[in-house]
Amino acid sequence: MTAEPLVFSGSLADVYFDDEVPAQRERYQALKESFHKRFGVWPDFYARCPGRVNIIGEHIDYSGYSVFPMAVSRDVVIAVASLESSMPVQVTVANQDPRYTETSFQHQSDSIVHIDSSVHDWINYFKCGYKGLLESHGNIQPRGFRALVDGNIPTGAGLSSSSAFVCCSALATMQVNGIKLSKLELTQRAIEGEQHAGVKIGGMDQTACVNGVKEQALLIDFVPVLRATPVSFQPVASSAPVFVIANTRVVADKHVTAPTNYNLRVVETRMAAAILAKHANLHNVATLRDFHKSFILDQYGDQSQGLSDDRQLQIVLAYIDTKLKPGYYSLEDVAAELQTSVAQVRSRLVADVTIRASGFQLHSRAKHVFSEARRVYQFRDLLISSDDSSGDLLKELGELMNQSQASCSDLFHCSCPEIDELVEICRRSGALGSRLTGAGWGGCVVSLVQRSDLDRFLDHVQEEYFFRRWPEMRGDGSISNYLFATRACSGAALLPA
Ligand code: GLA
Repeated sequence: MTAEPLVFSGSLADVYFDDEVPAQRERYQALKESFHKRFGVWPDFYARCPGRVNIIGEHIDYSGYSVFPMAVSRDVVIAVASLESSMPVQVTVANQDPRYTETSFQHQSDSIVHIDSSVHDWINYFKCGYKGLLESHGNIQPRGFRALVDGNIPTGAGLSSSSAFVCCSALATMQVNGIKLSKLELTQRAIEGEQHAGVKIGGMDQTACVNGVKEQALLIDFVPVLRATPVSFQPVASSAPVFVIANTRVVADKHVTAPTNYNLRVVETRMAAAILAKHANLHNVATLRDFHKSFILDQYGDQSQGLSDDRQLQIVLAYIDTKLKPGYYSLEDVAAELQTSVAQVRSRLVADVTIRASGFQLHSRAKHVFSEARRVYQFRDLLISSDDSSGDLLKELGELMNQSQASCSDLFHCSCPEIDELVEICRRSGALGSRLTGAGWGGCVVSLVQRSDLDRFLDHVQEEYFFRRWPEMRGDGSISNYLFATRACSGAALLPA
């Protein structure tokens, strides 16, 4: 399905659910009129990309493991009008949200566009999409354009507002320049483009945003090739599962905290993979998944084919207990383990990433990654192979989500007190499973709830978490921005204006 070409969608009904269409029609009309008011011309088309919620599989995409997110009903829409070919090629981007000021940039033939990742500026994400898309089309003469952005994905909340924006910008750039890409190709361009923002992200967000499918989650594999396989909740359909998003309101911007949080985790997982590979005398290992696959092949030869993903991960989980020590490693310790110099460790494992740390936790990070990868396969297997005759399937899925949260909190240290508290409240309020979603350190919690329990769940969570902390929310109607049920939605789309 990822080879599917991106084509113009005829109508809003192709993109949104029927009950959303009237409100979306008004939104697009308002965007069109604002565009005309601001730029004096009508837009040619809209590019649209949703956010995502990750159901399970956190911080394992950059180690090469599969993840299980779905696109959500909040999205970014960009109205676009191409400019006549002229030099210099100029792109102007404005936002319906007055917090973001209008900006213009010129296309540079050598670097395409300059992105200063040390400055935290919203336009950087637009530039990332632009650059990622055009980097691989060096021979075209690009066209300038004007764009007006309308987004409703909460920012810094773990719902991929930035990746959705990057993907949407790449999509707009693609259409203006008459480039034809499949969804998979667009995804790759967006993943590469977002690397220019200064965080060593994996590819989960862009893949989920571009490839979303109504009523289906996505099992995303990164190796050997990027693939997004839609998976339905059919086996548990009779229990009517609903995913509810609750926002801690702790803003977690991974681009701001990357050196001590996200990028540091990337480096820790690389170090763990390198040391494990050294102990097992394996070569060409960059990620924990590379180590896992080489190790199993090395130990089991032809028999490895017969080992399930689950069994393989159990084996590598046992191995790390013997080879990685709990607690902190210094750079010198890592160098000693690898029988090399600190300078070599830096250039091999840290050079392309900005981090700030004096110690590295390798055992707990590797344990999280292998056990979380196991849970994704278990989640997949429950949904693919079960018929739920026992009626316990939903509970088992929820239990895997709970285990994932415990691992994120205790081993990967990407939770925070507010997430831990909100997760507890969600469980007490009837969620079968509840966990942080996205990079963590703040942002949103996702809960699996049975539809019959939904109203009671929402009432309870709003009282216990939101109204208790912010009594003014009781009457100001803002609760639906912070606590809402969502369904799996469709992915990137182009719509005529
Ligand atoms: C962010 C990154 C993703 C992924 C998650 C954690 O959302 O962009 O690539 O690593 O964090 O699972």
